[in-house]
This record gives sequence, structure tokens and C-alpha cells, in this order.
Amino acid sequence: MCGIVGYIGQQEATPIVLDGLRRLEYRGYDSAGVATLNDGRIEIRRAQGKLINLQKVLDERPVQGSCGIGHTRWATHGRPSENNAHPHYAGGIVVVHNGIIENYLPLKEKLKQQGHSFSSETDTEIIAHLIEEHYKELRDFEAAVRQALEEVRGAYAVAILCEQEPGKMIAAKLGSPLVVGKGEGEFFVASDIPAMLSHTREMIFVEDGEIVIFDDSQMRFTDLAGKAIEKQSKVIDWSPLMAEKGGYRHFMLKEIYEQPRAIADTIAGRVMEDQEEVFLKDMNLPVEELQGLEKIFIIACGTSWHAALVGKFLIEKLCRVPVEVDIASEFRYRDPIVNEKTLTLLISQSGETADTLAGLREAKGKGGKVVAICNVVDSSIARESHGVIYTHAGPEIGVASTKAFTTQLVALYLFALHLGRARQTVSDQTSRKLIDALLTLPRKVEEALELDGPIERIARQYMHASDFLYLGRGNQYPIALEGALKLKEISYIHAEGYPAGEMKHGPIALIDEELPVVVVVPHNATYEKVISNLEEVHARGGRVIAVTDGSADELKGKAEVVLTLPEIADELMPVLTSVPLQLLSYHIAVLKGTDVDQPRNLAKSVTVE
Ligand code: AGP
Repeated sequence: MCGIVGYIGQQEATPIVLDGLRRLEYRGYDSAGVATLNDGRIEIRRAQGKLINLQKVLDERPVQGSCGIGHTRWATHGRPSENNAHPHYAGGIVVVHNGIIENYLPLKEKLKQQGHSFSSETDTEIIAHLIEEHYKELRDFEAAVRQALEEVRGAYAVAILCEQEPGKMIAAKLGSPLVVGKGEGEFFVASDIPAMLSHTREMIFVEDGEIVIFDDSQMRFTDLAGKAIEKQSKVIDWSPLMAEKGGYRHFMLKEIYEQPRAIADTIAGRVMEDQEEVFLKDMNLPVEELQGLEKIFIIACGTSWHAALVGKFLIEKLCRVPVEVDIASEFRYRDPIVNEKTLTLLISQSGETADTLAGLREAKGKGGKVVAICNVVDSSIARESHGVIYTHAGPEIGVASTKAFTTQLVALYLFALHLGRARQTVSDQTSRKLIDALLTLPRKVEEALELDGPIERIARQYMHASDFLYLGRGNQYPIALEGALKLKEISYIHAEGYPAGEMKHGPIALIDEELPVVVVVPHNATYEKVISNLEEVHARGGRVIAVTDGSADELKGKAEVVLTLPEIADELMPVLTSVPLQLLSYHIAVLKGTDVDQPRNLAKSVTVE
């Protein structure tokens, strides 16, 4: 999730653009850049790393101009480097982009055949070359942009300048956020409100498929075909900090609500509708290596370890390869049996967790292949792995992991499908069915988020409990563990996750009228058995909160609360069942007044052993 900023008006653009980029810092960046158009010439300055590095470059080599665009990069394609930093330039066109161009590889090949050469590994650079190509023929900046955007598939929020038509800036949106700020004879455009709030509160939200043309202190909206569109502006009365949270009270809640987009971004470019293959080019594992695998380890910590447990179910079911899951801090002390036919997956949002990094080195040192599932491009774990599957969740600020977790599950799902296809244990029909189910996931998570209101209302009934029990079976047992972790780490209420079948082997002694028991019980192969466990709790006065899908008739009279989710393939149900458990923890913690985003004693990334 990158950040873009654009300015056109009477003032010097660079300070305004830089200030805007600073206000987008929460979007994370590993490189940044600015371009201005002055006297018909485009000047570009870029730097790897934090924004301060770009500031230093500009201090040494300032640029002028009252029209400029800027970008902070959260790398998705191409590692963080000055070369891959935006803005990207081609033949008089300069562009900054937030999003993922899914068909950039075929477009890049076509442009190469037309004589274009590329200087970066990014998908964005092809946008500049496409516009340049169309401009050669049309000699019209606006028309060239329309034609170019007609060709790309995927998501974009772009701001573009053209040397041949100074005094004009064009922005466009599809799938990634874009907001216009209206000043006195000047205009701003950015990925998010905070970038412009110190200059104007009059904002216009750009919708998908819309283009904005700024010239001669005018602004007009059209669709991709050039048809004029009337837009209304809104006055934003948020504080800057509120704006960084997108109006949400905490980053954690904002990130819970970002899950549909984060999941869609993690899927983007890796599957195609009515195709059976999954494309994981960064994994760098040829088919014959995948076919020769005899064992898979998955190691991780905390929430990422819960994702690993779900991954075991997915991989063993779809690929028939034995999977062993280890808590990273245990793995390296048990002299694990690893060889060249072993693959070790390392799951880590931050890519910096010391225990997980040590586990990677242990496996690699014994001759095994290592692949990371990470959210931070070029993080230590990503860099030291043979291959990587990036989650595209964007920076996760809240210490309690939410969108990173559900995108880790999606990454594991993609990996299992990819491995199953390589080993021919997943047929065309099964693959297409599961890919079709995957493509419905963002919308179904949206539906799951509709439980937020009811959950906020019931949270008050449970906030004073001193203990919680979470139960689940099969691939829902890790979700029971995750729900318990979420609650304990942000509300400080003791909570335990247990396999539902284990109730009678001890935990049932805990059941009384004070104990809330969250039972995750979707309609799958173990539904009847979990219902029996739920009835054991109910019969002893336990306060059951049931999370299910489809019909809840059978639960009436057996649960105090029934939260019903949309139905989806069982392999994907753990993503949906996570959502109400995240929301329950969040609302109870808010009621208890804890520091939801930075809970006591915890760090976002545990870089010590
Ligand atoms: C999860 O909510 C916690 N913040 C914590 O358990 C976290 O998942 C764990 O520290 C692993 O972090 P990583 O994914 O960055 O490696």
C-alpha cells in the first residue's frame, strides 16, 4: 500500500508534496520520490529508505516548479531501491502509482517489441511507457492517458505529468484510494486525506473509473471514455491523527476493516478467473523441486504460528505432503530432521522476528529449502529465504495482528493450490472451484464485518469476565487459539484456545455460569461433534457465544449469542471465522479502556530471542 501526492497551483510544489508524503508515513515506505514540471522540463529526485533520505537529496539538488507529484513506496513488485522508487519516467511522461497492475508482464513485452527499454522491475513503469506510446500517435495528453488506462488490468491510483503539456496534471483511480483537495486556485491529490488536511478541508473522493484533469486552475472529472462527471465536495473536520486512522478510533479497527482490500491485493495477479493455475513467481521453486518434496515444516510465532497450523490442514489435504508445524523458538532446539527434500515455510508479518529468523537459519543450515510468507518486502526473513510469498496487507500498525493474519491464510491457500497443481494432487476442476471460492472471499469478509454492530452491543455483557475459553475443531482449532490470543493481548483477560474434543479431558472443569465460551462451529464435517461439545458447555451453565455459518436454528436455546457468517468453501472458512473474534476482542478491550493499538508489555515485532 503506497502513498501518492500531487499538487498544481501557484506555490512551489516540492515542499507541499513532501509534507503530504510525511503525512502518509503510516502507509509505510521503503523508498520515496518527487517529480516537478518546470519550464517544460521534468525533474525527478528519488531515494531509498525513509523520507529523510529524499529530503537530503533535495537539499543537495533542489527542484523547482508549481506542479509536482510524489510517492512513498511499499514495495510489491521489485525490491526497495532507488531504481524501483517512483516517480517513473518515459518519453516526457512521469507517473506515481499506488496499486498492482496485474497484466504488466504482457504489456511490458509488447512495449519492448515497440522499442521501449525499462530501467526498473516495477509494474508502474509500464504505465509511463504506455502513455508515451499513445501520446506519440495522439499528441494529446488526456487522450493518451485514457487509452493507456483502458489497457491495464488491476488496481491503480495514479498522478501523471507530461512535459509536452505543462500546467496540466491528470489523476485517475481504479481499486486504490484517491482523494482530491480543493484550495484557492490550487489543487491537491493524494492517496488519503492526511496528506492535504493542512492545506484544505474541502475534499472530493474519486470513484473507480474516474479521471481528474487539472489545468489553468480548473478541475474537471470524466469517465474513462471522456464523458464529463459532476462531483460534490465534502468538508472534512477530522484532526490529522484521526485522518491517519481513516476516521477509525484505532489503527486495529481500521486494519480489521482493511481486510477485504488486503485480501484482494494478496490475490491480485496470482490467479485468473476460469484458470486453474496459481502464479507465485517470487517463490523461486521450480516444479520438479516441488514434486520432489518429502516433508514441509512451517515455523512461526504467535498469530503467525496460528496461521501455520491452518496451513498444515490446507497443504496436507490438497497436496498429501506431511507437514510439521513448530513454534519458532522451539524448532532450533530439537535438532530437527531437515534435508534437501525438506521445505521450510517461515511465516512472519514483520519479517524480523528473531526466533523465526533463527529457525530459518537452522533449516537452511541443514540443507533445506526455505520460503518466507512475509508482509514486509526485503525484510531480514524475506532476504535470507530462497523464495518469498508476500502478503500485500500494507503496513500493520496495531500490535495485534489482524489483516496480516488473514492475508497469511490467503498466501498459504495460494501456496497449497500451487503445490497441489505441481504435484498433480489438485485436479483442474478442484482448482477452478477453489479459485472461484477464493475470488469471493473479499466480498464475504465484507459481509462478516457487518457483525461489528451486534458484537459491539454484546461486548458489554462479557467485559467483566476474568477468563474466556475458545473451542474449535480441525482447521478451526487454530482460530480458537487466535481468538484467545487476540482477547488476552489487548484486553488483558485470560483466555485459552482448546480443541473442542479436548473439553472432556480437563477444561470442562472450568465451566460455570461466569465463563464465556466461544465455540467456532461452521457447518463442516465436524459440525455435529462440536455441537455436542457446545451442549456439554451449555448443560453446565457455560455462557456460549457461537460462531457459525448458514442456518443457526440448531443453536437456538443452546447459545447466549449466535454470530452467523456467510458460507464459503471449508478451506477458506478460517478467514471468515477470524473476523468476529477480532471484533469481539477489539470491543471488549475498548470497553476496558486498554491501549488497543499498543497493549502493555508488547512490541509489534519481537526482534530479540
Ligand atoms: C499477534 O497479534 C502478536 N502481535 C504476535 O503474536 C505476533 O503474531 C508474533 O510476534 C509474530 O510476529 P511476526 O508475524 O511479525 O513474526
